[in-house]
Amino acid sequence: MLNFEYHNPVKIVFGKGAIAELDKLVPTDTPVLMLYGGGSIKKNGVYDQVVTALRKRSVLEFSGIEPNPLYETCLKAVEMVRREKIGFLLSVGGGSVLDAAKFIAAAALYDGVDTWDILAKGAEIKAAVPLGAVLTLPATGSEMNANSVISRSSTGEKLYFSSPLVYPRFSILDPETTFTLPERQTVNGIIDAYVHVFEQYMTFYLNAPLQDRQAEAILLTLIEEAPKILKNPLDYEARANVMWTATNALNGLIGCGVPQDWATHMIGHELTAFYGIDHAQSLAVVLPRLLTHCRDAKKMKLLQYGKRIFGIEFKKETEGKAVEAAINATEEFFNSLGMKTHLSDYKIDANEAAGKISRRLKERGTMLGEKEDLSPDDVSKILVGCA
Ligand code: NZQ
Ligand code: ZN
Repeated sequence: MLNFEYHNPVKIVFGKGAIAELDKLVPTDTPVLMLYGGGSIKKNGVYDQVVTALRKRSVLEFSGIEPNPLYETCLKAVEMVRREKIGFLLSVGGGSVLDAAKFIAAAALYDGVDTWDILAKGAEIKAAVPLGAVLTLPATGSEMNANSVISRSSTGEKLYFSSPLVYPRFSILDPETTFTLPERQTVNGIIDAYVHVFEQYMTFYLNAPLQDRQAEAILLTLIEEAPKILKNPLDYEARANVMWTATNALNGLIGCGVPQDWATHMIGHELTAFYGIDHAQSLAVVLPRLLTHCRDAKKMKLLQYGKRIFGIEFKKETEGKAVEAAINATEEFFNSLGMKTHLSDYKIDANEAAGKISRRLKERGTMLGEKEDLSPDDVSKILVGCA
């Protein structure tokens, strides 16, 4: 096992009616800024529950945070935080609102010249406005991690930063808030969580059986619970299981002491930046082709995954077939949820995408993968294969 440090300070408040707990969790002695997206929370009663719970506080609102939150939008909120001397940020929504809240928290107290440097140059963050979250979409794990992904419309970039100072102080996870998710977002969330596990599990073999089995538990739970939600979106138990599972897919625990990949995410972020497809859609397109491209380097883990998750048995002489079957089973799982897995499904020209994205990665000097041996030319081949 590799050396690691693990500290996760996020308090999770989980279950039906949990939003009322905000009254105990949000400070009363400072103006609070409530951040939200395009208005889903006004249609499903979440907004009313939050406002009721916060009634003893001075609360301002900032709405209109878009999916794949924009830097330009965040800057408007930063201005408001500074002007109104906001002392606490409350994100109410999915990963996009929460990622925006994290960036706003850091940018509002940033002492450098250009807040874009936080994302583009990994500029040091010395302080951040404290924040909390009410999560309405299980997917990103942002509710229990220190990451934030922000897009900039003027340059077409999508970049991330990470800082322990932007861990939420608490995250409220009420599965009932997810009843109103459109099927597309439910499926996006399940696939995003599935691929988060892959990024931390599907690498090279290292003797870490606990982390492997924790990762496999997450995959199996997603495979078992997803069809229940598609059949009955109001199935509380299935919604609850998926919500807690998605949090566990990216709260750092399964990644302790093991190599991590993240190439699918890095390529996917570029697809979203250039073509606007949803985060999970980009992952579902890239992952199967990336696995095929890297099948030799990932062979032992692909065999273990195929056997433990899909019951694919193998002998020495059938290993190649078993690897292929494991990759196909993954893609079939995505397709079974109605998720498309080819660029042509989104009318994206694979050759063009391969050219644009590999050029950008070359300019940045980026090498990807758990061994940092996946070059921009490899990425180009993977994307051509995603046609
Ligand atoms: O904006 P509103 O009106 O709220 O509607 C949202 C949005 O249109 C809607 N929605 C959310 N909860 C709902 C709901 N609609 C009905 N009922 C509800 N309960 O869903 C749409 C998508 O929301 P969004 O927040 O964009 O989705 P998600 O949570 O999947 O977040 C995606 C963003 O997170 C980033 C992605 O790159 C993308 O920008 N990621 C963040 C990570 C992190 N912080 O660790 C890791 C991930 O890999 C990912 O990169
Ligand atoms: Zn993701």
